[in-house]
Amino acid sequence: MKVLILPDAQAATRRAADIVSRTVSATPDSVLGLATGGTMLPLYDALAQRHRDEGLSFAKVTSFNLDEYIGLTPDHPCSYHHYMQEAFFRHVDIDPARTHLPKGDAADPQAASDDYEALIEKAGGIDLQLLGIGQNGHIGFNEPTASLGSRTRIKTLTESTRRANQKYFDSFDETPRYAITTGVATILASHKCLLIATGTAKARAVVDMIEGPVSAACPASALQLHARVTVILDEAAAGELH
Ligand code: F6R
Repeated sequence: MKVLILPDAQAATRRAADIVSRTVSATPDSVLGLATGGTMLPLYDALAQRHRDEGLSFAKVTSFNLDEYIGLTPDHPCSYHHYMQEAFFRHVDIDPARTHLPKGDAADPQAASDDYEALIEKAGGIDLQLLGIGQNGHIGFNEPTASLGSRTRIKTLTESTRRANQKYFDSFDETPRYAITTGVATILASHKCLLIATGTAKARAVVDMIEGPVSAACPASALQLHARVTVILDEAAAGELH
């Protein structure tokens, strides 16, 4: 695990954008694993800016997002489909036909999960997986106690994750209880992983991920088993490391 500690969130974002840009420039038909959440927003802004100013092209990229809420249609303003469209896809030249997110509104979410896992495999696997981390150590929506051997499936969200995400919904009751998420093993099968964590709220989870035992209690700790992981932190998120 390569851990880079940058002075602040802006510097962390720049470094992450450098890694994504290098990957896409070197291999234009890369398969990117994408994440949502607040941490990713400045990264998508930075990549869109490089597209506008430097001609960084995503035209041949294929993308697979980590997760989607169950029960939300793609046009729901709180769906991850909508997030990706607004935060990234509509600002770059990515081909919509090559972008993929789990189908949260599928009649049979488990069948949709199996299909999604098969689609990732058919694409040749993920070259670079972007990751954030939850305050409880989740990656994707693999909450604590998630099997480290898991593949794409339905997950029940913990109350703490629903509370953290409540700000995007009108009320806690409207915050979804279930999501489709790629599994810990799906993430570990990626060729490279790039995890970004910024802010003091992530400091405890970062310690558990990097210095704790590999344990389903902190799903992100499974990344210790991956040979090519880069973790980019700002000083606030790195504040509790020994
Ligand atoms: C979302 C995802 C989640 C987030 C995590 C951190 O696609 O995979 O694991 O990365 O919840 O979210 P933020 O960045 O909002 O703190």
